[in-house]
Amino acid sequence: MKLLPTPTVDEDRAERGGPVPDDPGSERSGPLLEARELSKHYGSVLALDRANFSAGEGEVTALIGDNGAGKSTLVKALSGALRADSGQILVSGRPVSMNSPLEARKHGIETVYQDLALAPDLDAAANLHLGREIYWFKPLRILNKPAMRRSAVRAFADLGVELKDVGAPVMTLSGGQRQSVAVARAVSYASKIIFMDEPTAALGVVQRERVLDNIRRVRDRGIAVVLISHNMPEVLAVADRVEVLRMGRRVARFRSSDATVEQLVGAMTGALTTESDSGPGSGTAGAGEAEGDGQ
Ligand SMILES: Nc1ncnc2c1ncn2[C@@H]1O[C@H](COP(=O)(O)OP(=O)(O)OP(=O)(O)O)[C@@H](O)[C@H]1O
Ligand SMILES: [Mg+2]
Repeated sequence: MKLLPTPTVDEDRAERGGPVPDDPGSERSGPLLEARELSKHYGSVLALDRANFSAGEGEVTALIGDNGAGKSTLVKALSGALRADSGQILVSGRPVSMNSPLEARKHGIETVYQDLALAPDLDAAANLHLGREIYWFKPLRILNKPAMRRSAVRAFADLGVELKDVGAPVMTLSGGQRQSVAVARAVSYASKIIFMDEPTAALGVVQRERVLDNIRRVRDRGIAVVLISHNMPEVLAVADRVEVLRMGRRVARFRSSDATVEQLVGAMTGALTTESDSGPGSGTAGAGEAEGDGQ
């Protein structure tokens, strides 16, 4: 049953196998990225339970949910960092395999992982160019460090990050600075989709605003931005749409202009139930229903 007043309610089961749902911002050609029925077990824990998700080009989609709802797992599955047990991923309506971050990159996908995935003993400039080094002379793999530094300094300045020394190992940076390095890297290279898993969690007020500005800028370049955040005012300020995960399952979608913090929190906690069949009662879902993989 649809109990939420205004939001677009997810019809998880109804839409199974059907055409792409009417996602805002993607009316013309369907979502840029879509997950259908993704499931993922970690041992006996069902982290994703036939989760659906979609993100449209040129819009910011916030992915929200309580701790443990499966947000990071979903992002990892969609960015090639892990393989879902079952389900389908579509880019521009076409099913794709997403078996490695490299494969994701080929689809123009960049990710700021919650754990940042930086190389701690390399400096910020080298981290920014990880896998995309600039060489003086490629056959001999002679790095053009000054060029890498220059572009790193530019990228950080863009984010309002002042690094005293872009040549210092990343492990010597503060948590916020490290987060900024990860954000700068993703923003610099994303050409289609960027996932940001709590990119502002460790940031001070000024840098948080810079990151949000960057998110808007990237969005205005036509890129699909997927933002994970626990900060509801931030979500409503920057996102065009919101998708809610609960116990590994998408349970609601909202247009942010129509949504309130109370509604978002209600959907996250299950206080507002958006559909009868998404298993609010299935609580520790999956335990009983987990199956269907095995391969
Ligand atoms: N590597 C892992 N091994 C075992 N269980 C895991 C692993 N990663 C995640 N889980 C479990 O999967 C579930 C979903 O975790 P996930 O990290 O995706 O949640 P999340 O929504 O990102 O939470 P948070 O808001 O705390 O970051 C949790 O129950 C978690 O304990
Ligand atoms: Mg997480």
